[in-house]
Amino acid sequence: MNGAQWIEKSDKYIMKTYGRYPIVPVRGEGSILWDADGKRYLDFLAGVAVNSLGHCHPAVVKALQEQAATLIHCSNYYQIPNQIELAELLCTHSFADKAFFCNSGAEANEAAIKLARKYSRDTFGNPERYGIITATDSFHGRTMATVSATGQAKVQKFFDPLLHGFQHVPFNDAAALASAVTDTTCAVMLEPIQGEGGVNVPDSGYFQTVREICDRNNLLLIFDEVQVGMGRTGKLFAYEHFGVTPDIMTLAKALAGGAPIGTMLARDEVAAAFTPGTHGSTFGGNPLVTAAGIAAVRTILQDGLLNRAEEMGEYLLGELEGLKKRFSVITDIRGIGLMIGMGLTVPGADIVAKGHERGLLLNVTHDSVLRFVPPLVVTKQEVDEMISILAGIFEEL
Ligand SMILES: Cc1ncc(COP(=O)(O)O)c(C=O)c1O
Repeated sequence: MNGAQWIEKSDKYIMKTYGRYPIVPVRGEGSILWDADGKRYLDFLAGVAVNSLGHCHPAVVKALQEQAATLIHCSNYYQIPNQIELAELLCTHSFADKAFFCNSGAEANEAAIKLARKYSRDTFGNPERYGIITATDSFHGRTMATVSATGQAKVQKFFDPLLHGFQHVPFNDAAALASAVTDTTCAVMLEPIQGEGGVNVPDSGYFQTVREICDRNNLLLIFDEVQVGMGRTGKLFAYEHFGVTPDIMTLAKALAGGAPIGTMLARDEVAAAFTPGTHGSTFGGNPLVTAAGIAAVRTILQDGLLNRAEEMGEYLLGELEGLKKRFSVITDIRGIGLMIGMGLTVPGADIVAKGHERGLLLNVTHDSVLRFVPPLVVTKQEVDEMISILAGIFEEL
């Protein structure tokens, strides 16, 4: 079937939860996607920061193929060697001692919210201690708890009543956070760099003050690294840039090279609040996805992709700065590693559409911020190609 035929069938059978573009990708390799009509796209969105190893990385493909022929799923009633091994990899490379596996970023954040509440009540014996402070413009997912945690009205509207106990304060404003703490607060949940909220990087020192506020008030600090984690910023976890460690961290997206997975990691003392029967997932961390996860994490660590994300991030940032000097419609360039946003004076949707025409996949967050989250394996030539397409689009504005 060609692209138009697929789109017609999609209109008939798929719910309209997404404002989908008329593009039908059917094959991918590295930073390149091809659609059902054979058109080539340079992919600087990478499945929204999922395909960090590029499309169909051979290590992930091999792990999935071998595991699919061995054991796809059993149950979390039993021990799962791949899950244990992936947990060990993540814990030995982070602050964490224990992992819980699920299937998405939203579920990882749900788990974090439940763990924080249970830990707080178990530890302080106060049933009212369930409040969680999150940030304006944050994004934590589409389930009811994570919609309630998210600091964006457009995500929340239509779904009242929201889950009780979430308070939003401006991101990067430690004083606002400090004054929002009450004796019913149990945790603070933040993205180290806000992704969907417009690629917002906090000032240096912000997270140190946040950590101090948490310590002073016995609050858990939860970092949502669903988008920024797994090497995107040039470090395995973004918190490593800020000189603080969280008590709980959530990961998903790039963790298994494209296979659907989420995880919630915590320090031992906190993790102990999850006792048998308090939380779970049928598919979470099954043999298939965790095989892909092990392959993805090992590849990130062994193929020097952290250095590469840093180097290519610097190169991309420099090239985008070059565009900023040429085109007044660009207000600023911000980001760390390969998590970069470009502020515009105009809506970004047109630029994204023109990119599609010219074979470039980008996206826009917060209406006027172009987001660049290419695979960590992106090459200099691919960055140059993207810059030349983008320059062509800006020239015609
Ligand atoms: C920071 C952050 N948290 C949570 C989520 C939700 O992840 P998922 O769509 O896998 O549920 C996202 C998705 O974009 C995200 O960027």
